[in-house]
Amino acid sequence: MKCEAGASDNAECGVRSADDCQLLNPQSIRTPHSAIHNQSAIRNPQSAMTPPTILPGAIVGVLGGGQLGRMFAMAARRLGYRVHTLAPEHDTPTGQIADVEINASYDDVEAVRAFAKGVDVVTFEFENVPAAAAAAAEAHAIVRPNGRALAIAQHRLREKTFLADHGLPVAPFARIDRDADLAAAMAKVGCPAVLKTAAFGYDGKGQVAIEKPDDLGPAWETLGRREAILEAFVDLQREISVVGARTAGGEWSPFAPIENEHLRHILDVSVAPARIPALTAALAVDVTRRVMEALDYVGLLCVEFFITRDGRLLVNEIAPRPHNSGHLTFDACRTSQFEQQLRAICGLPLGSTEMFQPAAMANLLGDLWEGGEPRWAAALAYPDVKLHLYGKSSPRPGRKMGHLTALADSASEAKARVLQARAALKG
Ligand SMILES: Nc1ncnc2c1ncn2[C@@H]1O[C@H](COP(=O)(O)OP(=O)(O)O)[C@@H](O)[C@H]1O
Ligand SMILES: [Mg+2]
Repeated sequence: MKCEAGASDNAECGVRSADDCQLLNPQSIRTPHSAIHNQSAIRNPQSAMTPPTILPGAIVGVLGGGQLGRMFAMAARRLGYRVHTLAPEHDTPTGQIADVEINASYDDVEAVRAFAKGVDVVTFEFENVPAAAAAAAEAHAIVRPNGRALAIAQHRLREKTFLADHGLPVAPFARIDRDADLAAAMAKVGCPAVLKTAAFGYDGKGQVAIEKPDDLGPAWETLGRREAILEAFVDLQREISVVGARTAGGEWSPFAPIENEHLRHILDVSVAPARIPALTAALAVDVTRRVMEALDYVGLLCVEFFITRDGRLLVNEIAPRPHNSGHLTFDACRTSQFEQQLRAICGLPLGSTEMFQPAAMANLLGDLWEGGEPRWAAALAYPDVKLHLYGKSSPRPGRKMGHLTALADSASEAKARVLQARAALKG
């Protein structure tokens, strides 16, 4: 185990155990920046560049107010950190757990600036924060991941271009920004294809299927003639994701690949470990590491992959934050993706990602409320199933309200079990 980012092992730190590290890292009072120590400067005056460790007691700022921030805040508070969150809405899933909830638009650069001044480190649970806001935060606090990584991951064209430029496998794609681009894009990508807005898409929003070349013009109209990407439609065998974390010192750690099933372009069920060949799993983990290194990424991210019917691995997209598919790590792994995000941004040793047992997660969308309140007691009657609800008051169709996780002796059994429990919610 490493005692802080930048130290390669305990011998180098001059300590014998994690407990010894604690002794070297006395807790500090709750004032921004006061809980940051560059201990390498104390023990090794040569390495003034070693990034500082942000210790328990410090204040972590989360831009975004959704369920990803909520579960991050739970992990952070368990470890004794304070959490501030900024989002446009009131009483957000994150705000309900955080110490402080600030209500402001992400476009409100002054509000973001003030928010950053009040915390020790800023991270994201929502990636569509404008570049100007990320830059304002970076001027006043440590921001992890960095603004460049965010700018790439929040824009599908920049993202695909970045991946292709680094020799990472992606489906054929082309940019569409004006009428004149339509024919060239179709010639390059072919049919069938998917047209996606370059920015602000999530859960399949901003996407149109293209069956034949004549569909493309009208589809671009439907998307409001905004900058878009045309992607070849991939004949999918499976979708998987890899969640990984990396510290400023370059330590990195992946979770086992997770298998994902979507319904109407929204994640429905995740199963881990993914039931795929070991070689494909190793390749996906290696691609994730390469993505993180190329972005000089500090924090936690998820790479979504397609596995084609003929067994090839393609990168679909990068999420610069915890991911819905990683929710099962909360119950199934020694360290959850949320605690790992905290450890990575704070420069703490990364935790073990070992799974206690194979696991499956089923999303609970607002649709489930159609016939009235779900029968919570019926799902809770499954002793091997855990219920997570995000504290959202209005259950709209397609809205992620919570999830269930089941652990079992095999991935297939866990999946069957979580689906049974979800069915029981409807009675
Ligand atoms: N090029 C494609 N070929 C086949 N399926 C696709 C393609 N692009 C997207 N999809 C399907 O739609 C889902 C959502 O698309 P994605 O690009 O990941 O956007 P989002 O940001 O909404 O998650 C994918 O997980 C996959 O199931
Ligand atoms: Mg996706």
